[in-house]
Amino acid sequence: MSDEIFMQRCFDLARLGAGNVSPNPMVGAVLVHENRIIGEGWHRQYGKPHAEVNCLASVLEKDRHLIEKSTLFISLEPCCFHGKTPACTDLILRERIPKVVIASLDETPEVAGKGVQILRNAGVEVVTGICASNPHLPSDIRNVFVSKKRPFIQLKFAKSADGFMGQHGKQVWLSNQFSQVLAHKGRAEFDAILIGTNTAQTDDPALTNRHWLGKSPLRIVLDRSRRLPANLQLFQGRATTWVITEKARAQEKAVDLPMFFQLNFDENLLENLLSILFQHGISSLIVEGGAFTIQRFLEKNLWDEAVIFSTPKRLGAGILAPTPMGMEVARYQLGADVLTILRNDGNRR
Ligand SMILES: NC(=O)c1ccc[n+]([C@@H]2O[C@H](COP(=O)([O-])OP(=O)(O)OC[C@H]3O[C@@H](n4cnc5c(N)ncnc54)[C@H](OP(=O)(O)O)[C@@H]3O)[C@@H](O)[C@H]2O)c1
Repeated sequence: MSDEIFMQRCFDLARLGAGNVSPNPMVGAVLVHENRIIGEGWHRQYGKPHAEVNCLASVLEKDRHLIEKSTLFISLEPCCFHGKTPACTDLILRERIPKVVIASLDETPEVAGKGVQILRNAGVEVVTGICASNPHLPSDIRNVFVSKKRPFIQLKFAKSADGFMGQHGKQVWLSNQFSQVLAHKGRAEFDAILIGTNTAQTDDPALTNRHWLGKSPLRIVLDRSRRLPANLQLFQGRATTWVITEKARAQEKAVDLPMFFQLNFDENLLENLLSILFQHGISSLIVEGGAFTIQRFLEKNLWDEAVIFSTPKRLGAGILAPTPMGMEVARYQLGADVLTILRNDGNRR
């Protein structure tokens, strides 16, 4: 079996941590002896053991003597510093694993190639870059977060067959139930979700995750002049909400739900907002519309992935859907809807 197949298994394992490990990376690991997987694990929970630790702990007693003759596949370079848990490079050396295969380097400044170097210096054979051109690396979110000092940004919207994403002043349902379930899966996996003022007013979305197992994201709404009424679903207490406004009042900043952040709505609004998210450890953000808001992110090239649900419905007129220019990396049929995923190639490191 090829290295790529074992690495693909690491990616699948890594994604089981989605929604639970941020701002740590999703990481999966498998230990292979003569084409047989004798251990596997993933980083399950922020602050808890890393994938390598869980992988080695899963090896059966009868196979433990094989560890020092096995190859460890890891989706991300092992950490080499003691953070919330000990360094994984120490574990690999202690277990005398002779060969390590890695998909991507960890761009966290304390690691950034040092994990590989420490292993090589100790005589471990290290292969890097396996499956690194895969457009869906589980480590992308972490590496965007630490290298760009902002969350990984997904633009997400549904559009009609004639290219509209809504109609002025009224709510229109475009996507079908399969698309909606997937959209809620995204909410379980991403840290935060953001919408513009008109969407909050017109659609009154709850922005919670109700159709997938897991948490709801932090909800963020832009409301420059505080024109949104307090009875919107967004302001009900099922998940935390941040209001980004020019008009925060002192006493309201102390209130837990919603929380108000005062920012100038100038040309640096998005950069300043993303910097606040970074400081709060929010490593992934869905921008769910509307068109005006998504367009501002596109103009600034502040996006990494676009998730577009193309539906057969026709609106005839309305608010034109944005057209992100990215590389198509996946396409799925969801009943009569088609889900297309684009990556912002220009933003790929
Ligand atoms: N099909 C879908 O997937 C989908 C998803 C979401 C929404 N929608 C539809 O889209 C429609 C709303 O879209 P929309 O384009 O009219 O509005 P929108 O993007 O929801 O909100 C636009 C408003 O938000 C504020 N804003 C957003 N970004 C800003 C920025 N960078 N700088 C300053 N202000 C910013 C401004 O408010 P001020 O004018 O107060 O400054 C702006 O007018 C709704 O009808 C909704 O149904 C469709």
